[in-house]
Amino acid sequence: MSKNKIIVAPSLLSADFLHLEDELNKLHDLNVKWLHFDVMDGHLVNNISFGIPLLEAVEKKHYFFNDVHLMIEDPRRYAEPFKKAGAHLITFHVEALKDEEDVKDLISYLRSLDVKVGISLKPKTPISKIEPYLPLVDLVLVMSVEPGFGGQEFLNSGYEKIALLRYLRERDHLNYLIEVDGGVNNSTGYYARANGADILVAGSFLFGHEDIKERLESLDIE
Ligand code: DX5
Ligand code: ZN
Repeated sequence: MSKNKIIVAPSLLSADFLHLEDELNKLHDLNVKWLHFDVMDGHLVNNISFGIPLLEAVEKKHYFFNDVHLMIEDPRRYAEPFKKAGAHLITFHVEALKDEEDVKDLISYLRSLDVKVGISLKPKTPISKIEPYLPLVDLVLVMSVEPGFGGQEFLNSGYEKIALLRYLRERDHLNYLIEVDGGVNNSTGYYARANGADILVAGSFLFGHEDIKERLESLDIE
């Protein structure tokens, strides 16, 4: 997973589900490589979104790098079904695990499924909670909104976390990518990138707009 060019991962949570095939064709034609699946179980976060059948359907249409964000209470139970459905990266929430042993167990289990491994934290969770795992993961997903809904405002604490993650990565010669999710637009995306983000998840800034091409270009900031 390269660390150089910015990657934009459109969040399907904001897609038009009545015209999902058209949405996927549009992204494919715009040379979008990553798709972000915001999976919510109504327990870890206060919403229920979608799951394995959607990923299976999307997988049939086009090749995308399927970035599956599990905002669920039991990521271990569903990791293998998501892998089988086409997940390339599985990101779990540190808040869903009870202790360090649990987290390390889950990371090893995800490794055994041959997927890329991501860890995510809600806005109120400090970086210190995931620091022991930074050498073990491929990606850290910083939630810049309280997870559950698209269309929220970017929380500035996201920038500080991104900058700290960049510092820790350099200090400890680690390799994880830094992804940010929630309230990303051309302005917040610019500052997230300036602070060290490698991947921008964007939902409502992209979907539902005629000028999605220009919006994508505005995020792919050089
Ligand atoms: C959790 C979701 C949202 C969503 C991004 O709530 O993860 O962050 O994907 O939605 P926007 O880009 O509309 O904030
Ligand atoms: Zn997400």
